[in-house]
Amino acid sequence: MSHSGTPAPATARKSENLRGTVRIPGDKSISHRSFMFGGLAAGETRITGLLEGEDVINTGKAMKAMGARIDKQGDTWIIHGTGNGALLAPEAPLDFGNAGTGCRLTMGLVGVYDFDSIFIGDASLSSRPMGRVLNPLREMGVQVTAMAGDKLPATLHGPKMPNPITYRVPMASAQVKSAVLLAGLNTPGITTVIEPVMTRDHTEKMLQGFGADLSVETDSEGVRTIRLEGRGKLTGQVIDVPGDPSSTAFPLVAALLVPGSDVTIMNVLMNPTRTGLILTLQEMGADIEVMNARNAGGEDVADLRVRHSELKGVSVPPGRAPSMIDEYPVLSVAASFAEGTTIMTGLEELRVKESDRLAAVARGLELNGVDCTEGETSLTVRGVPGGKGLGNAKGGAVKTHLDHRIAMSFLVMGLASQHPVTVDDSRMIVTSFPEFMDLMAGLGARIES
Ligand code: S3P
Repeated sequence: MSHSGTPAPATARKSENLRGTVRIPGDKSISHRSFMFGGLAAGETRITGLLEGEDVINTGKAMKAMGARIDKQGDTWIIHGTGNGALLAPEAPLDFGNAGTGCRLTMGLVGVYDFDSIFIGDASLSSRPMGRVLNPLREMGVQVTAMAGDKLPATLHGPKMPNPITYRVPMASAQVKSAVLLAGLNTPGITTVIEPVMTRDHTEKMLQGFGADLSVETDSEGVRTIRLEGRGKLTGQVIDVPGDPSSTAFPLVAALLVPGSDVTIMNVLMNPTRTGLILTLQEMGADIEVMNARNAGGEDVADLRVRHSELKGVSVPPGRAPSMIDEYPVLSVAASFAEGTTIMTGLEELRVKESDRLAAVARGLELNGVDCTEGETSLTVRGVPGGKGLGNAKGGAVKTHLDHRIAMSFLVMGLASQHPVTVDDSRMIVTSFPEFMDLMAGLGARIES
């Protein structure tokens, strides 16, 4: 997202028979890491299927500013990395736009170097807590200067000799885990991260693929201990990024809600740390057929055939939150059309996303006629099968707070509700899913911006 400009409202209207076969753009988490690890590793990394959303492009720009060479030939991104330990001091502030992942992981990656790196972002990113990453980095010897509270902008300066730590991650956050591990790449000795609740494991898997000396042990209670030997060699890789399950969620839920729909979504990442939404929707009665399940480049991948379904409310166990953390907004929309009540608990992390997603979802649902209750860390939604009375006939707009997933979730809602649903801005959808409007229109969705 740019730092200024005029909002672009969008309105979704009741649609019929969403049909077709679509390919979802590459996974955002893997795309960020592909640019980062490719930019750091010695030799050449070739990436196909990369998500070319603004968030990931900003990560690419940051890696270039620190010495990586990044070019595109046809559909393939070709990176020549600096070699581990050999990033250059960026001459200008690194601007991560809207992207928490790009910013927090790069703070770990470069923060331990003995030079200044300056981090900036848009209004949404500048309101998000950075202390969760900076606290362990301080233990490793990183000085944080020129910062108001724990919000951007921030200047980091690493020590002459970073200190390898053992860090127990206090919240379920793959970004925090990853920032510490990436700092460990340029730290002599063994950096250890203890993860009481498993979160997405792309950093561990991909670093192993690039040749890092990284091991994972899981005890009988599911607590994971990740050990990384620092200052080892990383070597360029060939990566084919699978489709993003978090972006898949939007056409998938739209197909479930719009009568007569039958949509196939190709090449979706099915890593078990990312499939909580599919499991939950299946428990609600969703007709989602998992086809051609296969392994590609070390990740589980499948095609999904989704047909319109009558959904029932469920209680979503809090322990499932890490595997569907970005999908609660669109699940809340699905729950608005289900028979009965859906109870979602363990949602504390939703409050520190691109917006306070718990509040943003609750206000949006209320504006569109949904009976819901927002708790401190929970959301309860009482659904209306068929969507009678849902939507906002007067054109009242959902406040999106620069949050792409709030915008896309409520546009999905308008495809099945009796009245249209309007969002106050749709520009930030390009951060994660630039093809969203065209892809949805191709399936038959009525969305105007
Ligand atoms: C991400 C981790 C999650 C997720 C974000 C991507 C990652 O954030 O919400 O969209 O790629 O590591 P947290 O680590 O803050 O839960």
